[in-house]
Amino acid sequence: CGIVGYVGEQPALDVVLSGLRRLEYRGYDSAGVAVQTPEGDLAVAKKAGKLANLEALLAESPLAAGTVGIGHTRWATHGGPTDANAHPHVGGAGRVAVVHNGIIENFARLREELTEHGQVLLSETDTEVVAHLLAEAVDAQRAGGAELDLAEAMRAVCRQLEGAFTLVAEHADAPGVVVAARRNSPLVVGVGQGENFLASDVAAFIEHTREAIELGQDQVVELRRDGVTITDFHGKPGDFREYHVDWDASAAEKDGYDYFMLKEIAEQPKAVADTLLGRIGTDGRLTLDELRIDDQVLREIDKVVIVACGTAFHAGMIAKYAIEHWTRIPCEVEVASEFRYRDPILDAQTLVIAISQSGETMDTLMALRHAREQGAKVLAICNTNGSTIPRESDAVLYTHAGPEVAVASTKAFLTQLVACYLVALYLGQVRGTKWGDEIFEIIHQLADAPRQVEQVLETMEPVRELARSLADAKSVLFLGRHVGFPVALEGALKLKELAYMHAEGFAAGELKHGPIALIEEGLPVVVVVPSPRGRSVLHDKIVSNIQEIRARGAKTLVIAEEGDEAVVPYADHLVRIPQTPTLLQPLVATVPLQVFACELATAKGHEVDQPRNLAKSVTVE
Ligand code: G6P
Repeated sequence: CGIVGYVGEQPALDVVLSGLRRLEYRGYDSAGVAVQTPEGDLAVAKKAGKLANLEALLAESPLAAGTVGIGHTRWATHGGPTDANAHPHVGGAGRVAVVHNGIIENFARLREELTEHGQVLLSETDTEVVAHLLAEAVDAQRAGGAELDLAEAMRAVCRQLEGAFTLVAEHADAPGVVVAARRNSPLVVGVGQGENFLASDVAAFIEHTREAIELGQDQVVELRRDGVTITDFHGKPGDFREYHVDWDASAAEKDGYDYFMLKEIAEQPKAVADTLLGRIGTDGRLTLDELRIDDQVLREIDKVVIVACGTAFHAGMIAKYAIEHWTRIPCEVEVASEFRYRDPILDAQTLVIAISQSGETMDTLMALRHAREQGAKVLAICNTNGSTIPRESDAVLYTHAGPEVAVASTKAFLTQLVACYLVALYLGQVRGTKWGDEIFEIIHQLADAPRQVEQVLETMEPVRELARSLADAKSVLFLGRHVGFPVALEGALKLKELAYMHAEGFAAGELKHGPIALIEEGLPVVVVVPSPRGRSVLHDKIVSNIQEIRARGAKTLVIAEEGDEAVVPYADHLVRIPQTPTLLQPLVATVPLQVFACELATAKGHEVDQPRNLAKSVTVE
């Protein structure tokens, strides 16, 4: 979910809505706002569906003006995406409004207690419970003769809550104040001049300020026009870090593109170049000084385990091939949501790599916490400065993709690959792996990757045409071998996410063990072909696989290197990519698949940036 809070001089509704627009990628099942009115009340508006629905409602029945407000865009957990379940939720006869991200695990018991006190709850959400608890905490302060202290009330409530949450709240009787709390869920503060902000991420306030505060665990924030006070849940001084956001507001704009996804696909050469910047020396040696992990520790590692979700997991699968081949360290890769539940074998010699664009994915966070509890070292590969995953890791290598807004990941994926290659090569470097010609060739090619990605992007028109012609296909299969296999999985995932089509990726060699039964006349099958140079046996095997499916009626869409003539007779459609060492091929081979899915979804009339049911940053397990 996306959360915004504002205290300042500007009309709060405008600031909150524009913040929500920038956060809508975090969830778009419903949206809502609450503003303190000049009359000392709270004005609340909320609506199921996208933010546009709320905006239409506000155009019809405008809210009273005010300069203090909160807002929310939701990805539903408890309760369906209805008007009633939309946030903010109110308590204390409409005097308290709360927005929330996360899950309050003991909400059923708290709800029962509230009902016993005679409170009437209107929604099915765990959030409404917090609104009532907050109202009761404020009432208790007054009954005790104390002054209303909303931050103290929030601390008292947080001490009763279990689970993960970001909460932002306001009270009609506490004018000029917004309070917030976080546990295991994202929240940043934006520090302006005469105004301050709260949000799930900096994109929400970047047009107003680039000064931000990252918060530690279990913190409560009191936001006023002239200051921000941070404490823990017991009122002790807070754990936080001030930082400057180094990208500007335009980075989170569509910039003339119809969709963020199109812009982000086009930005890939720069994203890759930025992620390489300063990390490869002229002598071909790598400098990753920013890693807060000692080289000696890396020398002692005897196993690497990669955890990640979704697209980041596919980057991890590719990393396994690179790490094992270049360093000979055994490497496992697992979806983060499965990891800790199977009691994995970890110790101080295990390096766990957690890959996450957002740095907030709960499954990945829980996996890394489990790994650290077992004594393993954790290295995060992350795109979001100040987010929880790098904060809780022993070391971090940032990808420099810039803000990725479209839900389906593109440029972040390519930069995750770059970061994985750098980590693999760096492990080789510190451990004294023989730096043969192959590695020099790899480093040379890696430095050339931005240009190669650019080259692919320039030749995508036939792919778009092909995608449009397949808008009515029932299913598309993707095949690859070696690193082409995760690329195939990623191609299929993109199509599922964006075009809501049945799409599956397979290891091409596994096809004959079952999936080949799916092949029927005219079924489109995308095949990612490895380079015929180098490991050419792989290439020859996949050419046989293409023949096998074609003989059974498949329509073959072949992605192959320039100069690879062997595939020509078997390709109904041929997409050329530049010559690249096999291990690096995913950097160029994935791009046509992204373009393909994006165009196909557009042809079907789907919302490319905000596919149904998904959210970019999933902060629940
Ligand atoms: C969500 C998104 C995916 C993304 C995954 C991991 O499911 O919809 O696109 O790959 O989370 O996100 P992360 O931020 O951890 O890379």
